[in-house]
Amino acid sequence: MELHVYKSADEVITGLADFCVRTINEVIAAKGECNLVLSGGNSPKKLYELLVSASYKNKVDWSRTWFFFGDERYVPFTDKDNNGLMAKQSLFDPLNIDEAKIFYINTALTPEAAAVDYAQKIIAHFGADPIQFDLVLLGLGDNAHTASLFPHTKVLYEMKALVSALFIDEIQSYRITMTAPLINEAHEIAFLVYGAAKATAVHNILEGERDIDNYPAQLIEAEEGTVYWFLDEAAAELIEKK
Ligand code: 6PG
Repeated sequence: MELHVYKSADEVITGLADFCVRTINEVIAAKGECNLVLSGGNSPKKLYELLVSASYKNKVDWSRTWFFFGDERYVPFTDKDNNGLMAKQSLFDPLNIDEAKIFYINTALTPEAAAVDYAQKIIAHFGADPIQFDLVLLGLGDNAHTASLFPHTKVLYEMKALVSALFIDEIQSYRITMTAPLINEAHEIAFLVYGAAKATAVHNILEGERDIDNYPAQLIEAEEGTVYWFLDEAAAELIEKK
């Protein structure tokens, strides 16, 4: 696990943008293409906007990148809360990404069918190769959830399925999410967390006792790769061992 702590949110975003560019380019150089999993929520929007800016957009051959989502809110694609729509508007459209390279979670299906459909698309994409994403970007809720692995939900104990659909009491809505075992197969996993509201969750996850029901992000441990935490000082405030 590697901690990268920056003074401000903007500096975290720049640090993670540089990391993404370096990682994606290394993967493309080695394999010819990169399988990238995007995080939802608000935090990554600034990252996507920086990656499409004049100073970044030409640093990567985006045509060699496949885009996936770690989770999706069970709302229509046209809903402002849809992670796929946010990524389309802030990343895919500005970069002219070919729709065929984007794996949206289809929330026009029932939640369960959307999860099965997404898992099938992932399986088909990797074919005979191991199902191993090159880079997974994750956010963190102030309740220590990541993707849609929320506290006290049964998906935390899902060891077989790649993708699950569940109704989450805490937010009174369905979510579709990659499971921890699928995320943990990734070569590189990078959390993007900034703001004081996340400090307690970050401390509990990294330095608290093992308690996945209360701190689900503790489930994220790369089998072979590395887990990186990109934090600002506010989110890292309560970490003892920086
Ligand atoms: C989602 C995300 C979720 C998010 C955290 C943090 O769909 O909401 O995947 O895990 O990363 O809730 O969200 P913010 O970045 O908006 O604080």
